[in-house]
Amino acid sequence: MKLPHHLTIKNSHLHLNGQDCVALADKYGTPLYVTSEDRIVEQYRSYEKALLARYPKVQVLFAAKANGNLAVIRALARVGAGADVFSAGELHLALEAGMPPEKLLFNGSSKTPSDLQLAVSKGIKVSVDSLDELHQLDAVAKAAKKVVKIAFRVNPALEVPTHPKIATGLATSKFGIPHNEISAAYTEAMECENIQPAGIHCHIGSQILDIDPFVRAADVMVRIAGDLTDMGVALEFIDLGGGLGIPYHHDTDPAPTPEDYASRVIPVFRTGVEACGITPELWVEPGRSLVADSTVLLTRINSTKSAHKKFANVDAGFNLLIRPAMYDAYHEVIVANNADAPLTTEYTITGPICETGDILATDRKLPQVAAGDIIAILDTGAYGFAMSSQYNCRPRCPEVLIRGSRVSLMRKGETVGDIIAPMRRPPWQQ
Ligand code: LLP
Repeated sequence: MKLPHHLTIKNSHLHLNGQDCVALADKYGTPLYVTSEDRIVEQYRSYEKALLARYPKVQVLFAAKANGNLAVIRALARVGAGADVFSAGELHLALEAGMPPEKLLFNGSSKTPSDLQLAVSKGIKVSVDSLDELHQLDAVAKAAKKVVKIAFRVNPALEVPTHPKIATGLATSKFGIPHNEISAAYTEAMECENIQPAGIHCHIGSQILDIDPFVRAADVMVRIAGDLTDMGVALEFIDLGGGLGIPYHHDTDPAPTPEDYASRVIPVFRTGVEACGITPELWVEPGRSLVADSTVLLTRINSTKSAHKKFANVDAGFNLLIRPAMYDAYHEVIVANNADAPLTTEYTITGPICETGDILATDRKLPQVAAGDIIAILDTGAYGFAMSSQYNCRPRCPEVLIRGSRVSLMRKGETVGDIIAPMRRPPWQQ
């Protein structure tokens, strides 16, 4: 199987950033998420380089939903990233990680009054999803005697080749304002005293391996930019969202790079904004393509079984990685302690959760395995830990970060006590 350069095999053990995954599993216990900070920084820099080579004003915003660990967000903040935040919690994380407020965009299709107050008080730009939200935000800004910069989230009505649950810019999606109603929305925004329309925003979906849909979205966005400029809106930024996919099937998926993205999208973007006579900042919001391949989830085999087929029962389940159960997602797996042995035997890797769907990988050729072996599940840095739960009263596992030759815990594992602590005993049960 093709491996990115930060994953190597030495002495039959899988290594991440030069660190032996088996030794890490022994030291920190399993299940365990292990992340390479160097890889994340490398991916960030490749985005920045590809975009800046073709357009002078660029801001990369990390989609914080993909990985909410403060150490990951801080690593990105230190190299200049901003963030797309989708909740008050993510907003706090981004500020805590040291991202300046002007590099943040508060997204969301269902914001509470206190979300809006928070954005206004911290001076964060807001991606507004509806006219109702626009007027609520105007009132909040008025009460605070502030003016808030906004973009509308545009629904460009584009079909994209991805799982239907993660296509976000379909005409039928819950997100944004239909592209043909967007001029009217800006007219309404311009009439709001405490709102300054400053940008436009879209996000067409996630895990998209073909560049064409991004080109089409850029085309829709610059056409809108033209209409808005004619109406007198001073556009400071155009945010094209995230969505670039990664090759989860290492040997067969296309592997589009930020360079591929920039070389096709920027010419359309550039020609479009030049025709409008403006030079707004170009914002992009990658999540998965920045962090997914930085991380492996290490899980130990508890037992094996031969029934109608062979099962390897491991100690991580959809409590820690829900993508296979939720999107039928595919993640490559490697036996970390026997990583270069011939692949002789087919196994289905199942978690410990009491659900039939708790399957992490189906019918995979592995070396023969036994209880105690360590399975590495690859490409789990995006929407892995971030979507974890405590289902079946299973404490979430620790996360470890590697930078150069240094290794550190970036989140300690929870205990059953942590799960029980917030529970309260109703008085009638005393
Ligand atoms: N911007 C907005 C407004 C988004 O909604 C998203 C992702 C992104 C940026 C980042 O997209 P990315 O570059 O990561 O594709 N849990 C799913 C993915 C959900 C994506 C939601 N929005 C999964 O595990 O595949």
